[in-house]
Amino acid sequence: MSHGGQWRQAQDDYGVFSRGLVDLSASISPYGPGPKARAEWPFLVNRLDRYPDPDYRELYEAVAVHYRIQAASVVLTAGATAAIDLVLQVINPRVVYVVEPAFSEYRLRATLWNIPVRRITETTGMTDPGLLFLANPVNPTGTLWHPSDLQQWITEALRHDVVPVIDEAFLEFVPDWRQRTLMQPDMHEVPYLILGSVTKFYGLAGLRVGFLVADPRRAKAFKNRLEPWSIAWPSARVAALALQDQTYFDAARDWIIAERTWLLGQLARRADIVGRPAANFILVNPSVDDFDAWLRRLAESGVLVRDARDFQAIRQPAARIAVKTRRDSQRLLAVWPVPPTNWR
Ligand SMILES: Cc1ncc(COP(=O)(O)O)c(C=O)c1O
Repeated sequence: MSHGGQWRQAQDDYGVFSRGLVDLSASISPYGPGPKARAEWPFLVNRLDRYPDPDYRELYEAVAVHYRIQAASVVLTAGATAAIDLVLQVINPRVVYVVEPAFSEYRLRATLWNIPVRRITETTGMTDPGLLFLANPVNPTGTLWHPSDLQQWITEALRHDVVPVIDEAFLEFVPDWRQRTLMQPDMHEVPYLILGSVTKFYGLAGLRVGFLVADPRRAKAFKNRLEPWSIAWPSARVAALALQDQTYFDAARDWIIAERTWLLGQLARRADIVGRPAANFILVNPSVDDFDAWLRRLAESGVLVRDARDFQAIRQPAARIAVKTRRDSQRLLAVWPVPPTNWR
């Protein structure tokens, strides 16, 4: 399994139906797209006969305004996953460098394009021209890169003719994300690419909207390769409305961070915490004798966590747990008692 969020499979495997399910296996905000988007939702069905605006003017503008960048440096895609594919397709690098542990799609998409993948842990691993994927914060640990370390990765990549691609899919969960983002008001001559997503922070995994930020000349080349109408019209409209609703999302960020702090304290009594969780998920090595039985017991009780045993370069067996509402956290903790103090 290389992704969380497999709620349909859970129905077959454990007989739990989505209505009663607490899905902590995909790290998506539980707070949804905000009141503006919710208010408009019932009316969108009356306009499904329309094609989307092929230029997606409203959504480009909403992305540009919120992220304080030029619309010309943005390329909208159907989720950040489609942006990963687009980058590989257009740049067609000789090799893809992945700093593990990492989101599985960097490796999977590169392999599908027949591009060799090299797993590296140090900047010195970049010896040939190619492309580097690096996420900030990292999935699955949630750890943030120190700005100077991130800069060093970029500098070293460029020195070896490697295109750095920084994945900021989870960065907006971090309170000082504006200081940390590598997006710039003017991206001319900026040599790296940035991946963005409205899936996670805006609770819109089902709508599939993401984007790429690049030097406007590069952005144009990427745009030329997009299919027309690649984002559904309701998806584009809801994403734009969500991005325009920042008062709500400032509150949602605070709620999630408060819950993460509380849940971390609870999980620390049941598991070793891996890394330094700065986003809306926590990676753990649970204090259990039988990991498979533990996963099954949670799932049969209607709680899904991400089996993280397929991630490289982390202590195993590990599970990734999304931070949602207090009620969701309590459902998890109710079926995962604190182990006796003499455990192991
Ligand atoms: C680090 C990272 N980047 C990108 C994505 C893809 O996001 P999207 O849903 O926008 O395709 C994910 C999804 O899990 C992710 O973990």
